[in-house]
Amino acid sequence: MLTGKIALVTGAGRGIGREIALVLAANGATVIVNYNGSKESAEAVAAEIVQKGGSAEAIQCNVSDFAASEAFVKQVLDKYKKVDILVNNAGVTRDNLIMRMTEEDYDTVLDTNLKGAFHMIRHLSRSFIKQRGGKIINISSVSGVLGNAGQANYSASKAGLIGLTKSVAREFASRGVNVNAVAPGFIDTDMTKNMTEDAKKTLSSMIPMGKMGSTKNIADLVLFLAGDGSDYITGQVICVDGGMCI
Ligand SMILES: NC(=O)c1ccc[n+]([C@@H]2O[C@H](COP(=O)([O-])OP(=O)(O)OC[C@H]3O[C@@H](n4cnc5c(N)ncnc54)[C@H](O)[C@@H]3O)[C@@H](O)[C@H]2O)c1
Repeated sequence: MLTGKIALVTGAGRGIGREIALVLAANGATVIVNYNGSKESAEAVAAEIVQKGGSAEAIQCNVSDFAASEAFVKQVLDKYKKVDILVNNAGVTRDNLIMRMTEEDYDTVLDTNLKGAFHMIRHLSRSFIKQRGGKIINISSVSGVLGNAGQANYSASKAGLIGLTKSVAREFASRGVNVNAVAPGFIDTDMTKNMTEDAKKTLSSMIPMGKMGSTKNIADLVLFLAGDGSDYITGQVICVDGGMCI
């Protein structure tokens, strides 16, 4: 159980982040439901948690903004005094073949997926080190492990997240802070609905189990990594992908 733990999940208003927020809360954590899109969706997630007897608050922050992330972390620490579990889930895609990819497509994806995680870890690092314990879980992707045609920006951001995970895991290992990455395969969410048909086809043909995964498949692993069961696991990249990365 995660009773007494404070969990912060970025981009938790829908999809995988929403499921992670619900599962962590169902297991006793107080959850900060971060969002940068729809306020209504994020507040609905928090309300659902509270209605089920849990504790949650929706807070807006664009994690790709260094200063805004710093203010967000300060707001959370002022109120909750600590963060035990940080899940860097916020992510975007701007798929295109490299020859057609604009600088803006590249920067937006890197700024959100990779720099966003850096901002959150950076601003919470003092707190994590001081409390000598905690779990950081970065949501990467099989695209960061294998690469994917049409997703050069996204794959670069998710591969970068793996490097970030391993380096911070080494920095924090002696302080009892575990840092791991989860690499989802092809999961049924709004994000995959937006993928080009070509990218979908390429990915589907690569799944040995022959089917898409669910948001629950990802949240169940995050729950394990957030709890005591993962105390001796750090710097790992765990694929939840129906065998894509075998
Ligand atoms: N769906 C998949 O198949 C799949 C596969 C591999 C990895 N992932 C990763 O899982 C994570 C969640 O994906 P999803 O499928 O639920 O997508 P989604 O688009 O449904 O959710 C992403 C969430 O991130 C939020 N977000 C975007 N930019 C943000 C910002 N700057 N600040 C704060 N929040 C921001 C969005 O508002 C949204 O709520 C992403 O990091 C994604 O890359 C998804």
